[in-house]
Amino acid sequence: MINTQIQMPNEETLNMAKELILSSQILAMPTETVYGLCANAFDDEAIKKIFKAKGRPQDNPLIVHISDINQLEKIAYTNDLALTLAKNFWPGPLTMVLPKKDSISNIVSGNLDTVAVRMPNHKVALQLIEKAKVPLCAPSANISGKPSPTKASHVYDDFNGKIKLIIDGGECSVGVESTVVSVSDDEIVLLRPGLITANDLSQFCNNVKISDGVLNQIKQDEKVLSPGMKYKHYAPKQEVIMLDGDIKQFAEYVYLNADEHSGVLVFDSEESLFSEQKAVFTYGKENDSKTQANQLFDALRKIDKHSDINKVYTRMPNKNGVGLAVYNRLLRACGFKIIKLKKPFIVGLTGQTGSGKSTVCKTFINNGIAVIDCDKVSREVINNEYILNKLVDYFGQGIMYADNTLNRKELGILAFSSEENLIFLNGLMYPEITRVIKEKIEKLKQTNDIIVLDAPTLFESKADILCDMTISVIADKDIRLNRIILRDNLTENEAKLRMNAQHDNEFYIDKCDVVIENDGDINALEQKAVDVIDCIKQKSKEKKI
Ligand code: TXA
Ligand code: MG
Repeated sequence: MINTQIQMPNEETLNMAKELILSSQILAMPTETVYGLCANAFDDEAIKKIFKAKGRPQDNPLIVHISDINQLEKIAYTNDLALTLAKNFWPGPLTMVLPKKDSISNIVSGNLDTVAVRMPNHKVALQLIEKAKVPLCAPSANISGKPSPTKASHVYDDFNGKIKLIIDGGECSVGVESTVVSVSDDEIVLLRPGLITANDLSQFCNNVKISDGVLNQIKQDEKVLSPGMKYKHYAPKQEVIMLDGDIKQFAEYVYLNADEHSGVLVFDSEESLFSEQKAVFTYGKENDSKTQANQLFDALRKIDKHSDINKVYTRMPNKNGVGLAVYNRLLRACGFKIIKLKKPFIVGLTGQTGSGKSTVCKTFINNGIAVIDCDKVSREVINNEYILNKLVDYFGQGIMYADNTLNRKELGILAFSSEENLIFLNGLMYPEITRVIKEKIEKLKQTNDIIVLDAPTLFESKADILCDMTISVIADKDIRLNRIILRDNLTENEAKLRMNAQHDNEFYIDKCDVVIENDGDINALEQKAVDVIDCIKQKSKEKKI
């Protein structure tokens, strides 16, 4: 086993580090972002040691660190935009991916034809590169998958006995790794967010894109711009669960779900709210993404060391500016799983048969709004064995076809033929329908802020209690009669029976927040539906405030 020394950064230490670099060894050095495990970028033997020590997949390329802009031309093909960015952000936490020159081996580039380069803004790192007179490859000095190290002690925890030297530069000032971008003549693609934000970069290029992998999970076998994005990262051994909600909702969820082996990861000011929890970890100020970035990895490492807990709840941080870097790391720490606590904005949409409600629904769906078809739910529920048996007991075998499936038309005729029958049917169906609707809302709310219940019997079933807003579609009586005779293949009498069992227009005008009148053509109705979507969005925003 190697004796691992932690040394302060003086002349003697730097000389020792230089000797190690020039004899194909690896060591850890501080940078302003995180500690790096470094080796001579032109020495394949040394580079292989980095991959081995970290347990890093071979296809995940390394960043080459330089101390002088002249070194850039030796390793990469540049363009004007890249040189402008270098001039404005170097030395600093910006890594640029550019076409590589032959001086960079395929081992460094993970077989890509590009190379990632940065000039760190840290005296020790710059001095070491100058002394060794070679660029240094330096991935974060952690075992692959673990949180990056922001203190010499973090590096020691991962590499004690594996490397000879850790240069102790104190705590890293940034705390998350550099922003990684690919840079062409007229486009910047953000591959990994960091202290330098998309907004900072947009001052030099009006075409800044954010790569898919920043916010979404990449499959192991998917081809990506930046291989590092597809690997699990930053994860302590415990399960991390991210909850999307305000602090009150978060505290309530933790109170109801945490057990004696749960902890929380919250902002400094929130610590006192969780005095009952076994373990409370903090990472910076609520409205200050820079302090969060600075302390996140230390907090994740503290969680990892805690032997008594097996899960940790944390709240979704602000994603703006530097917050995107914090969110991106936490998202990986929790394996991309997020539980939404926010209550969705629920809209009840109702109206008589033949009013045009289906067209309004279609317009909602085409505009990306989630709609629960309550009629469909009722068809599912009615085929449930328990309910079917109860119906046959009450209405008789006549409501069933010979093959033992339900004759819906016959049931409809019987149910609408007397008030008593309708009350029986509704009393049996509504509680079960409401239960299924609630289940569907729970699922949909993970990905939708607005959910519409398409419910012909919104008020009768009392589903309106679930709603933040109600909308009805109404139309002239004769128009409706013609529409349903054609649509449902009914006789005029059957259609009238069905209509008589329903409410008149005044009922809906009285009960609903918004009424859509559909006496015109389909285009006019679609336009009205689009206007109503704007109104729903506006109302849902007001509710959040
Ligand atoms: O702040 C930092 O960048 C730290 C310090 C030590 O400088 N280094 C660091 O390196 O974070 P590492 O290896 O842990 O992360 C490098 C990231 C990975 O996600 C990798 O996939 C990506 O940069 N990368 C490297 N070369 C690339 C290339 N040619 N094309 C696309 N992405 C590349
Ligand atoms: Mg790393």
